[in-house]
Amino acid sequence: LPAPVITVDGPSGTGKGTIAGRLAALLGWHVLDTGALYRCVGLAAVQRGVALDDDAALGNLAQALSIRFDGERVLLEGVDVSTEIRTASAGEYASRVAAQPAVRRSLWRLQRDAVRPPGLVADGRDMGTVVFPEAPLKLYLDASPQVRADRRYKQLKDKGMDANLSDLARDLAERDRRDRERAASPLRPADDAVVIDTSGLGINAVLARVTDAVRDRL
Ligand code: C5P
Repeated sequence: LPAPVITVDGPSGTGKGTIAGRLAALLGWHVLDTGALYRCVGLAAVQRGVALDDDAALGNLAQALSIRFDGERVLLEGVDVSTEIRTASAGEYASRVAAQPAVRRSLWRLQRDAVRPPGLVADGRDMGTVVFPEAPLKLYLDASPQVRADRRYKQLKDKGMDANLSDLARDLAERDRRDRERAASPLRPADDAVVIDTSGLGINAVLARVTDAVRDRL
């Protein structure tokens, strides 16, 4: 790797994205939201009528797609899909294509190629276990299902998007189950990960623990 990587994994609604962004800003490093990559592949598959369980076709699609980050914006084939990829249905498509090994293989290269000096903070589900096993610091954020559903709900509301708490809790549970039980890169903490339960913690408290870990391990 051309630069150090800090990995941030865990289920949805644990604050991974926020923590990764804040940590990258503190360190002056780059950040990579790998969930956005899976969301783009899911969205493109639906747009093009590719079945969400057609491993080979999805793998080729993932390889051929142009996905770019421009600050906060995500561009899929040059089109701004920043809002579209955050909907509940895009999350559902993402978690289905993410179970396909060929998709994970295609995105593996893309994720490795995103590493640039002075360093990268990468958030996802398998950053520490599969994509960057050599990372010097691996974080795994967790929280109770109730807390995670509440956070996702607030996040969507804040963005002015429609949301229903009980639907959200059900979808989240389903997505987590799929992420944990799939054969290809299941969601789990790396053996050497620092695990933080964020249930009772605000963002600043989590960030304080994270910066402690950075000081200890980096
Ligand atoms: O993190 P986010 O909610 O955007 O991720 C959407 C979905 O993409 C997850 O539910 C998971 O199925 C998949 N994903 C993954 N591996 C990653 C990042 C996301 O399987 N590294």
